[in-house]
Amino acid sequence: MAQHQAKTVRRKAEHVEVTLGKNVQCRAKSAGFDDIDFVHCALPELDFDKIDTRSKLFGKPMSAPIIISSMTGGYAGAEKINAELAKAAQELGLAMGVGSQRAMIEQKSLASTYNIRKVAPDIPLFGNIGICQLKKYSPAQIEAAVSAIGADALAVHLNPLQEIIQPEGDRDFTGCLPALERLCSKLNVPVIAKEVGSGISGEVAKQLERAGVKFIDVSGAGGTSWSGVEIERSGCHYEYWDWGIPTAVAVVDVARSTRLPVIASGGMRCGLDVAKGIALGASYGAAAQPFLAAVSKGGAKAAACELQSWIDSLKMAMLLTRAHNLEKLAKAKLLVTGQTAERLRLL
Ligand SMILES: Cc1cc2nc3c(=O)[nH]c(=O)nc-3n(C[C@H](O)[C@H](O)[C@H](O)COP(=O)(O)O)c2cc1C
Repeated sequence: MAQHQAKTVRRKAEHVEVTLGKNVQCRAKSAGFDDIDFVHCALPELDFDKIDTRSKLFGKPMSAPIIISSMTGGYAGAEKINAELAKAAQELGLAMGVGSQRAMIEQKSLASTYNIRKVAPDIPLFGNIGICQLKKYSPAQIEAAVSAIGADALAVHLNPLQEIIQPEGDRDFTGCLPALERLCSKLNVPVIAKEVGSGISGEVAKQLERAGVKFIDVSGAGGTSWSGVEIERSGCHYEYWDWGIPTAVAVVDVARSTRLPVIASGGMRCGLDVAKGIALGASYGAAAQPFLAAVSKGGAKAAACELQSWIDSLKMAMLLTRAHNLEKLAKAKLLVTGQTAERLRLL
């Protein structure tokens, strides 16, 4: 194995180890959901068991608008993690992304570590690649990686902060937008643009929409800090630990700046956060760390249990705001206070 390939594989393993073994959550910044309250409805006149959380992604049905965010693949241990997350997603009818497929493009034999279709034939599934890699790999190479795992879409991650803190990371971010535009025009599946925990602004979302992206996953600040993960690996630039746009603020900014469906992620920690994300303008809620933590404790069973508790929590918010379905929830009245209100006012 070439030296840079070995480094890619080792880095993917370290990311999971650091996320699970250290506290790499944002410290002084929250995702903003604590500043957001629904107006409680003491007279719901709804049957909890008839609340309809059903949604669709890439034309496929979902039992609820909850997504397991892109995380892993590319090293031996990743195969089990992906398979267990996928089993839980299949059991509950939810969607999932795999981690960056760079490792399998560089080394074909690693494809099996991403291939979850054998345990999750029906779920909406998306592949993943970093935006800087689009300058290195042709749309045909990326298309081959997406179809090798039977994915319905591709998430392209934008992660400049993580790259510049990572000692072996990319430094040249020029030419990424034209490369993304080229990919969107050639690929046979839709492209999701996502951050990894620093958020996407309305202005950047507009550029992404013009480039041909079909979904925006804001992946804002307030949850897993990817500068935190890299700081734990490299030991420098602590001042960037909490950098980024809090998720709740990013959702509002992107939803009012584009017509694209928005995925709320970054620090979403329960179904109530998903409900708040939807009321702020998102169509889906996603998370990474909570589902990885569940799998590491108790495999697919624990992940399914965690995901079921998110669905129940989402339904509770719907009952208590008299929202019998997601369209009604999207129109629920919110009270926004504190730093989130202040940030939205300044925007
Ligand atoms: C172990 C781990 C590995 C990750 N790897 C990727 C990746 O390869 N590609 C990507 O787009 N995001 C990756 N992410 C970022 C997540 O998809 C997500 O955007 C971020 O962790 C914020 O969500 P959270 O606060 O729920 O963890 C990873 C996250 C974790 C925890």
